[in-house]
Amino acid sequence: MRQAGRYMAKYRALRQKHSMLEAIRTPELAAEITLQPINAFDLDAAIIFSDILPPLMGMGLDLEFVKGVGPRLNNPIRSTYQIDVLATPPAAETMAGTLGAIRLVKPELEARGLPLIGFAGAPFTLASYAIEGGGSKTYVKTKTMMYAEPAAWKRLMNKLVTVVADYLAEQARAGADALQVFDSWAGALGRLDYMRYVQPYNRALYERLEKTGLPVINFSTGASAYLDAVADAGGDVVGVDWRLPLDEAWAKIGLERSIMGNLDPVTLFAPWRELRYHVDDVLQRAAGRPGHIFNLGHGILPETPVDTVRRLIDYVHERTAIRAMEAV
Ligand code: CP3
Repeated sequence: MRQAGRYMAKYRALRQKHSMLEAIRTPELAAEITLQPINAFDLDAAIIFSDILPPLMGMGLDLEFVKGVGPRLNNPIRSTYQIDVLATPPAAETMAGTLGAIRLVKPELEARGLPLIGFAGAPFTLASYAIEGGGSKTYVKTKTMMYAEPAAWKRLMNKLVTVVADYLAEQARAGADALQVFDSWAGALGRLDYMRYVQPYNRALYERLEKTGLPVINFSTGASAYLDAVADAGGDVVGVDWRLPLDEAWAKIGLERSIMGNLDPVTLFAPWRELRYHVDDVLQRAAGRPGHIFNLGHGILPETPVDTVRRLIDYVHERTAIRAMEAV
C-alpha cells in the first residue's frame, strides 16, 4: 500500500517545491520520499515511490497530475486506431527515473535490513485509466470498448502485459526484493467479465514474472466476490481489502498461499479502542499462521493522523512478538 503521501508533513513540503511527475522522475527525490516513512516508522519493508500511471507515458499517453483532482490522461483511447499506435518501448528507457531511484535507495535499505517492494499497475487498471482518461464510477467507456471491440481489447491488454512485465523485470534487475501488481479497479467487474477479459492477461503477466525469481504480490480491491478467480491468476501473495474477514479471504485464496491485508484505512480515523478492535480482529483471524503480511486493505488516506500510523505499527509488532513468545 501507499506509504509516502500527503498525510506526512515532510512529503507535503517536498511536493510544494516539486511536481508529482518531477518527484517520480528524479531518482534523488523519489529515493528521499521512499525513505520518509521508513525514517518515521518502524516498518518492515519499503515501497518505491512512483505511481502506476507513468509507464503509460512511454506508450504515447499524455499524463498529468492535476492538483486537487488526481491523475488525468489528456489523450484518452477512444478508438481502436489509438490502440494500434500505442508504443511498447523498453522500461529501461522510459522509466529510468524509477529504476535509478531503486538503485539509489537499495543500499540505504540494505544497511537497515529492510527489503524494497517494486510495483506496477495491472493491465486492466491501466487500460481503464487509458480509456476513461481518469477515475470513473461506472467504467462505461472501458467496458464498452471491451464488449464492442474484443479484438482491439486483446491487442491493448497484450501491449500492457508486455510493458508491465518488462518494467517489473527491470525493477527486479535494479534491486527490488518483491514485486506488487495493483489491479485497483478490478472490482468494477463481475466474475464473468473478469474471467473473459482480464484473468488471461493477469495470468500471462504472473507467468512472465516467475522468471524474476522474486515473490510477487497480486493485489486488487473490491474483488472479494470472485477472489478465488483473482488468486487463480497467479502471484505468491494475494493482497486483499477489508470487505471480507481475513480468514474468509484466506480460505478463498487457499491456505497454502500467502495473504496481505486487510485493515480498512478509514479505521485510522477511529478512536484508538475502535482501531485496536479492528487490528485484533485481523490478527486473530490470521491466527499466527505463517504467510500473513499485516497491511492496510487499500492506500493510506491524505488526512490520516501520523501518530495513529505510528501507534498502529508499534501495536502490530507488539502483538505479533507476544504471539511468537507464546508459541515457543
Ligand atoms: O508509498 C509510496 O511511496 C508508493 C507510491 C504509490 C503512489 N501511487 C504514489 C502516489 C503507489 C503504490 C501508487 C499506486 C497507485 N496510483 C494506484 C494503485 C493503488 C491504489 O491506490 O489503488 C492507483 C490507482 C494510482 C493512481 C493515482 N495516483 C490516483 C488515483 C491518485 C490520486 C488520488 C490520491 O490519493 O491523491 C494518485 C496520486 C498519488 N500517487 C499520490 C501519491 C503519493 C498523491 C500525490 C500528491 O498529490 O502528492
